[in-house]
Amino acid sequence: AIARSSSAAAGAQIQRRGFSVTSAPERKVAVLGAAGGIGQPLALLMKLNPLVSHLSLYDIAATPGVAADVSHINTRSEVKGYVGEENLGQALEGVDVVIIPAGVPRKPGMTRDDLFNINAGIVKSLCTAIAKYCPNVGVAFPSLLSSSTALVNMISNPVNSTVPIAAEVFKKAGTYDEKKLFGVTTLDVVRAKTFYAGKAKVPVAETYLRCNPTWRIVFCGEVNVPVVGGHAGITILPLFSQATPQANLSAEEITALTKRTQDGGTEVVEAKAGKGSATLSMAYAGALFADACLKGLNGVPDVVECSYVQSTVTELPFFASKVRLGKNGVEEVLGLGPLSDYEKEGLEKLKPELKASIEKGIKFANDN
Ligand code: NAI
Repeated sequence: AIARSSSAAAGAQIQRRGFSVTSAPERKVAVLGAAGGIGQPLALLMKLNPLVSHLSLYDIAATPGVAADVSHINTRSEVKGYVGEENLGQALEGVDVVIIPAGVPRKPGMTRDDLFNINAGIVKSLCTAIAKYCPNVGVAFPSLLSSSTALVNMISNPVNSTVPIAAEVFKKAGTYDEKKLFGVTTLDVVRAKTFYAGKAKVPVAETYLRCNPTWRIVFCGEVNVPVVGGHAGITILPLFSQATPQANLSAEEITALTKRTQDGGTEVVEAKAGKGSATLSMAYAGALFADACLKGLNGVPDVVECSYVQSTVTELPFFASKVRLGKNGVEEVLGLGPLSDYEKEGLEKLKPELKASIEKGIKFANDN
């Protein structure tokens, strides 16, 4: 009897432990373009995320191999691979977060806008499928809104135009929910943090302590730099005046840091010399942003990331800024905060380019 009760107690303990391990809700994440340079490491990183219960990998080619490979990793999620348009519906069924890194990357000498002709069509067809297979029945039944529509994380470039294309496609299909569409600009933030920490000579990934004026040690968190605007060249506007921890950098240093953040993608494209653009750092950034979306969906409070979303922060209909994520996607689009004169000037300079990219996306979606 003693043996039985102790094994029963052990069983109860295992059950309790089992409960604590699986207490995160079921969440299905789809990666569209999963066999690509970004897609593969992103699939790996999402397989490592304990918030994911089902991982759906879709591409027009080569997904079975990627899915078989990733599926052997002994983490929580069940992995399924789908190849070809006829299987896209199944890949999208019941999805909570759709990450889209499908499309061609830049080669040396190209701008992100040079990708428009190919990627706009890819994004449009994928978003048409998302509208069909992850419909926002919440439009008719508002109480079902949070469980019925996928959050879309757009990585495919030019993000400044592909996000407006997605919005137009969803509007036409009657499924648009502006709280659920995100342009992924996290890589700009990741770069800004790395470059800033290097210049300010602070450890980039450690929490740090500082003495306040009364010589008390205060906790300050990790290095952070908000990046606003858009995701191409001068539309990428890092706000180093709001960076933490504060460092006394000269105007020349801030200008150089701003330019390096704006040209970060080009730095990688040139170093890869024709073999593509950022894939590993982008997969990291994409995984970070998807994780933030999942945390928001799961009700974790105060999840804030920069993202390119429908916005009233400026007169432009889409703009990247800090966004608070919640159970329905965007909970609050946060304002810009105080800007330095240099940043105010950068903001005014970026607006015409960003406006043109938005209009180009909207026109494409409506003409094609
Ligand atoms: P890649 O060429 O290595 O991979 C793209 C993948 O998309 C390929 O596997 C291809 O088969 C797939 N694909 C093409 N058409 C498709 C369709 N209709 N449906 C599903 N999959 C499709 O390119 P990479 O390096 O992975 O880059 C992907 C995109 O991400 C590019 O547009 C690139 O410019 C963008 N990017 C965005 C960044 C950001 O910060 N938002 C940073 C770096 C790249």
